[in-house]
Amino acid sequence: MDVDLERIFFREEDIPKEYALLEQIDQREFLSNGEMLPWSGQVSEVFSPICVKTKDGLKRKRIGSYPVCTEKESMEALEAAVSAYDNGRGAWPTMSVADRIACVETFTRKMIEKKDVVVKLIMWEIGKSFTDSIKEFDRTVEYIYATIDALKDIDRDSSGFKIEQGIIAQIRRSPLGVVLCMGPFNYPLNETFTTLIPALIMGNTLLFKPPKHGTLLHYPLLEAFRTSFPKGVVNTIYGRGNKIVPQLMQSGKINVLTLIGSSRVADSLKKLHPKVNRLRAILGLDAKNAAIISKDADIDLAVSETVLGSLSFNGQRCTALKIVYVHRSIAQEFLKRLSEEVGKLKYGMPWEKGVTLTPVPEPNKPAYLTECLEDAKSHGAKVVNDHGGKTLESFFYPAIVYPVNSKMKLYREEQFGPVIPVVPFDDLEEPIEYLIESSHGQQVSIFSNNAAVISSLIDPLVNQVSRVNINSQCQRGPDTFPFTGRKDSAEGTLSVVDALRSFSIRSLVATKNSESNKKLLNEIVGDHSSNFLSTKFIF
Ligand code: G3H
Repeated sequence: MDVDLERIFFREEDIPKEYALLEQIDQREFLSNGEMLPWSGQVSEVFSPICVKTKDGLKRKRIGSYPVCTEKESMEALEAAVSAYDNGRGAWPTMSVADRIACVETFTRKMIEKKDVVVKLIMWEIGKSFTDSIKEFDRTVEYIYATIDALKDIDRDSSGFKIEQGIIAQIRRSPLGVVLCMGPFNYPLNETFTTLIPALIMGNTLLFKPPKHGTLLHYPLLEAFRTSFPKGVVNTIYGRGNKIVPQLMQSGKINVLTLIGSSRVADSLKKLHPKVNRLRAILGLDAKNAAIISKDADIDLAVSETVLGSLSFNGQRCTALKIVYVHRSIAQEFLKRLSEEVGKLKYGMPWEKGVTLTPVPEPNKPAYLTECLEDAKSHGAKVVNDHGGKTLESFFYPAIVYPVNSKMKLYREEQFGPVIPVVPFDDLEEPIEYLIESSHGQQVSIFSNNAAVISSLIDPLVNQVSRVNINSQCQRGPDTFPFTGRKDSAEGTLSVVDALRSFSIRSLVATKNSESNKKLLNEIVGDHSSNFLSTKFIF
């Protein structure tokens, strides 16, 4: 097969109309304190990873621009969130769960009306295939509805009193305060909303910073946020993270930091808070998930799951397989079949049917991956698949690298791109040792048809990572399963239910079981004078 990367890019006029952006989106406003505030300062230009052919060669297509605000606007947004929370006395944190759910339902209806433009922007901003961009939107809406159902269940369980050892109590989950929420570029809508929505629905107020790649797609949703929630409950901050975020943390007014990104950034931000004990962090961080393919694995299955695990969305998933250990006795066969399957993957523009490999949004990524390949070659590895590592502008053709060893960057660094480092092993202790020494601990995939081998791996590995996948790639879903990690890979647990817990704390109202106290409780409940102390049941 020959690979002509030039041919994957289109001329502007050849882009199918149904996938083209009708116009560039030049955002000149942002949501803060219940208003869309105008912006006339500095802006950041947004260039798509999708290049177009021009008479001057390939050019990343400009799709719009967004505000680069300063510390002043982010501090004003912080004050808006602090005042909407009002030490837990604001309209939002004291609102009944049923009413908060109604606001989130209103928002979701308005969000769905914007589906077409948001999906297109996901595709244009980060180069995700159109099919996967639709999936990302739909999965997010499903997640919101599942969150609402889970909260109803939690609320139903808390809508009564408990009597223990002569004490009557009602126990509910309460909000934590002001949440600073920052999402990643690879799932700019979904992963952002899997923290933002639970944080919001539990009664917290928010400062939301959209990801650097994947900013514009949130713009069409700002009006829905503005009109669905009380003033100051959702506030956006735009600008360079390293400029505007430190001051927010130093203020000590952020109660929860939720970030899907790098452990380096998370560590440095946490340290800026003047009272770290007052800060809760819910973090999804780096990962270097390994596949371990034993000699009695079904090679076809291991190959197809490795392709999915390492190359879905060009390997830009935190859950991607980023290193593959294969038993030396089957390594050559595995590499041959893996190369064949990678060679069958369709590459091209994100709107093309069946496309898997698309341009990558980080401008420096192809150069970084090339550097990783050069480094691996200098330490004795080869790129074993045809055209592996060929690159043109924003596109990088996947490379299978073998044999990888501990001297190479690819052995430790999270490549977050379409490179598959393969390490041969003789003894299962070798990949186990790798995981023990790794600074990451998210997931692992183990491949074998031998129950004894699988069980010998399960017990050591469940204490190294947070999910052991048998004969399948690593993944986050189903969203009802706990998603977390050890070491530098995560802090806190996300899932539909766990996220609701993560963004809240249990509070209780308790009294001695006396006649006069019972009379008081009955009066409060009967008059519906408290939203907390209440036996109202959400049907
Ligand atoms: O980037 C990390 C995502 O949470 C991965 O989710 O496994 O469903 O692709 P996924």
